[in-house]
Amino acid sequence: MITPKIAAKAAPTGAAPTTAHARARSNIALIKYWGKADSRLNLPAVGSISITLEALWSDTSVEFEAAHRVDELTLNGERNPNHLARVTACLDMLRGIAGVNVHARVSSRNSFPTGAGLASSASGFAALVSAAAAALGLELSPREQSIIARRASGSAARPIFGGFVEMHVATRADGTDSFAEPMLAADEWPLEVVVAITATREKDVSSSRGMTRSAESSPYYRAWVDSHPADLAVARAAIGARDFAALGEVAESNCLKMHAAAMAAAPPLLYWDGATVECLNRVRELRAAGIPVFFTIDAGPQVKAVCAPGARDAVRAALADVPGVLDTLVTGLGPGVEVGAGPGAG
Ligand code: PMV
Repeated sequence: MITPKIAAKAAPTGAAPTTAHARARSNIALIKYWGKADSRLNLPAVGSISITLEALWSDTSVEFEAAHRVDELTLNGERNPNHLARVTACLDMLRGIAGVNVHARVSSRNSFPTGAGLASSASGFAALVSAAAAALGLELSPREQSIIARRASGSAARPIFGGFVEMHVATRADGTDSFAEPMLAADEWPLEVVVAITATREKDVSSSRGMTRSAESSPYYRAWVDSHPADLAVARAAIGARDFAALGEVAESNCLKMHAAAMAAAPPLLYWDGATVECLNRVRELRAAGIPVFFTIDAGPQVKAVCAPGARDAVRAALADVPGVLDTLVTGLGPGVEVGAGPGAG
């Protein structure tokens, strides 16, 4: 375990159990992170631009207590050994900064299906970092939290912040300049998102393994990485100008490039269902009919339809009607991580 070079600004409060909770939102990337420059430091090979989603959250509570012999994780009310190693690795970074060796009981609850391409690792690890830092009495800046969250899950670095967020690639070898930064607050361009859920199973191949496989075997991976800075520049300009059509064009293109690179990996990665494709077609039909909407898809079959203000109800009705769509979720853009918010998971 390599502890990031972040100095503790406050000492833990002593032997008493220290508990804190945090709510972090999920996010979707409009310009995607797919590929690692360094697996050990979990450095992205490409930058990304995301939006933080109000209604898709993880509530996480962390209790450090000297009497705990090991870390424990409860996810959505059930003990979860599967994700415990990643949680422990993340807690180890914070324990290293605080200079303590106490174990924690972590309890986390998601407002949406876990591991199905709705970025539960992003909201889960963003909430874990903030709650655990608070429980240890560490005063970490949002940027420092973003760096630590990135080590746990690349996309978790972003929803430390709300609204529109850009994640930077590292130029330094130690990765200390790979963090997320806010671009626009949620209310500065209040887009909305309709999520068409076509499956609730956990995906077979995690994002992390999928991107490694793409980098190792996809003939299109290099083209994906090389064409990425231009997509970021177009998206930055579109967001600055609140140009919905320009943002939609580059976001759809970037999403399909990511999936094309993944599909061409060996063995191939196909995250889509039939209903995924039907939803893409439906979004295009809506747009042709004058409704301002564009799609994006992450490492799962769900389609996220990003809507200009006012378009959401028509988009939701149209996607709910697509055969194979099990449910739809609607959300606006949300704030960054909130410590002490939420009911306290468990
Ligand atoms: O942070 P990870 O390892 O779960 O990877 C996220 C990858 C995508 O969701 C497909 C894209 C992104 O930028 O969020």
